[in-house]
Amino acid sequence: MESKYLKFENPVRLEELNPTYTLKRIGLEDGMVLCDIGAGSGVFTLPAAQLTKSTVYALEINDGALSAIIDRAEKLGLENIKAVKVSGDGFDVEDSTADIVLLVTVLHEIESRPAFVNETARLLKTGGKAAVIEFYKRETPMGPPAGHRIDEAEVLDLFAEAGLMAEDRFPLGENFYCQVFVKI
Ligand SMILES: C[S@@+](CC[C@H](N)C(=O)[O-])C[C@H]1O[C@@H](n2cnc3c(N)ncnc32)[C@H](O)[C@@H]1O
Repeated sequence: MESKYLKFENPVRLEELNPTYTLKRIGLEDGMVLCDIGAGSGVFTLPAAQLTKSTVYALEINDGALSAIIDRAEKLGLENIKAVKVSGDGFDVEDSTADIVLLVTVLHEIESRPAFVNETARLLKTGGKAAVIEFYKRETPMGPPAGHRIDEAEVLDLFAEAGLMAEDRFPLGENFYCQVFVKI
């Protein structure tokens, strides 16, 4: 794996994010389709593809990240991951594809957040869930400067504007919060 992706695999980060536990807590079950938007090195994509036999879409702007996911999936014998290159504003995935969409530490990197969240919501089936994991908007041991982070109230507003309802919220260690929304 390219060294620039190793920071996503930091053991403290993995322990706090606890992907398999977190995916189950969000509600991922076998048979569900999941879209991991900004999938990085596959920290959530790979365990998701072990929890469901249905398709797990890994959406990324970065070719190196997509290659890393494809290589790791092959090594693990996972055949249900579909890598999707993101270029431009839209995602090349049909409307109402997913039972769950994940945005793990990606939303704070996005400039046009309302459009990005609307596009995320488009991928969800009615009754499907969007889960956002982000850094607390204060200095914590890990993550970007506080000014580059996104607070929970802003995330709530963005998803409410996109027609999703808040369902759950839980902490993930010292650094991260997870908010879960339902498409109504
Ligand atoms: C901080 S990394 C997080 C990776 C992964 N979600 C994780 O938590 O391990 C953010 C990722 O989002 C990707 N990204 C940024 N903007 C994106 C966009 N508009 N669409 C898809 N991916 C994007 C970046 O290439 C990067 O790999």
